[in-house]
Amino acid sequence: MESAAIDPDRIPMRTLASGATMPAIGFGTFGSDHVDHGRVAGAVQAALRVGYRHLDCAAVYGNERTIGEVLAASSLPRDDLWVSSKVWNDRHDDVAGACEATLRDLQLDHLDNYLVHWPFPNHHDPHVDVTARHRDAVAFSAERYLDTWGQMEALVDRGLTRHIGTSNMTAAKLDAVWDHLRITPAVNQMELHPHFQQPALSAYLKSHGVEPIGFCPLGSPGRPTRDRTPEDSSPIDDPTVTELAHARGVHPAAICISWAVTNGHTPIPFSTSPINMAANLRAALDPLTDAEMGRLTTTDRGCRLIKGQVFLWREGQDWRDLWDEDGTIAG
Ligand SMILES: NC(=O)c1ccc[n+]([C@@H]2O[C@H](COP(=O)([O-])OP(=O)(O)OC[C@H]3O[C@@H](n4cnc5c(N)ncnc54)[C@H](OP(=O)(O)O)[C@@H]3O)[C@@H](O)[C@H]2O)c1
Repeated sequence: MESAAIDPDRIPMRTLASGATMPAIGFGTFGSDHVDHGRVAGAVQAALRVGYRHLDCAAVYGNERTIGEVLAASSLPRDDLWVSSKVWNDRHDDVAGACEATLRDLQLDHLDNYLVHWPFPNHHDPHVDVTARHRDAVAFSAERYLDTWGQMEALVDRGLTRHIGTSNMTAAKLDAVWDHLRITPAVNQMELHPHFQQPALSAYLKSHGVEPIGFCPLGSPGRPTRDRTPEDSSPIDDPTVTELAHARGVHPAAICISWAVTNGHTPIPFSTSPINMAANLRAALDPLTDAEMGRLTTTDRGCRLIKGQVFLWREGQDWRDLWDEDGTIAG
């Protein structure tokens, strides 16, 4: 079943520190290890038809080549699209090679944004379970990150990407490197939804001219098993979210998207369903009232879903060691 397209000119835009504008909602492309690459590419094709103009890609999702076929077959002008990708953790020492491979796969001559996917060079293979650890996993090092960032800056100099950004960074880690950046990040991609609102990090980013991009904006109901724990909660099942959705006659997912866009985030929901894609895009055009936003402030449970256990570097560590919750970076 197809769904009515939304005029892309109606999508709200974020103005970045560079002055460039980016659609304030994007389309995620992670198949969560169970949606195969062909179906993700089909979803991207449908998303472009529905009106999405911002795509969130990553080499580690394994599907950039099939998405590239969709982009090559599209008649949309390149300048109408905002395409992001990310360097995976095993290429921090060869960022140029990784970016060139992504550009070849996506069949593009430049990206709009290229992000460092995680601040650790700790690799994991697709489909691993929560106990997997990289043999040579290490703690965050500002020196090593700055070396990777210098390679990112060189991509901007070469015109391979218009902007560069961070992902899964914390305020403590950004503080540790900020004064040494020649080109500052345009965005930080981070988990954001009504059960994990991260107001302090969002405010920190805004005050530094960095746009927060929200992943898992619906609480990632299809996420891999390695990213599920018994204490996890689901924002689309939250009673307040559900009540507000009922009052507006929409799905709770639409409330999550409207909340994100009203809050100044750029959510990047994924969907295989054109009906859901269109509903999410429509929600981005539909801001919430102050009263609704006020009610949603109370739904924050501090519930991080993507905890990142597979990136830990020492035996017996807690996943909180990845996130600098007390403002110090674990060594
Ligand atoms: N930087 C990072 O480390 C990082 C980490 C995680 C994710 N990401 C990015 O963020 C994107 C989004 O995260 P995500 O895909 O994990 O989670 P998500 O967007 O929160 O959730 C996607 C799921 O929600 C369902 N859904 C979508 N719209 C819906 C609607 N209107 N009503 C009901 N269900 C709906 C989809 O099912 P249907 O297919 O049935 O619609 C799909 O299972 C990823 O694709 C990826 O690009 C980045």
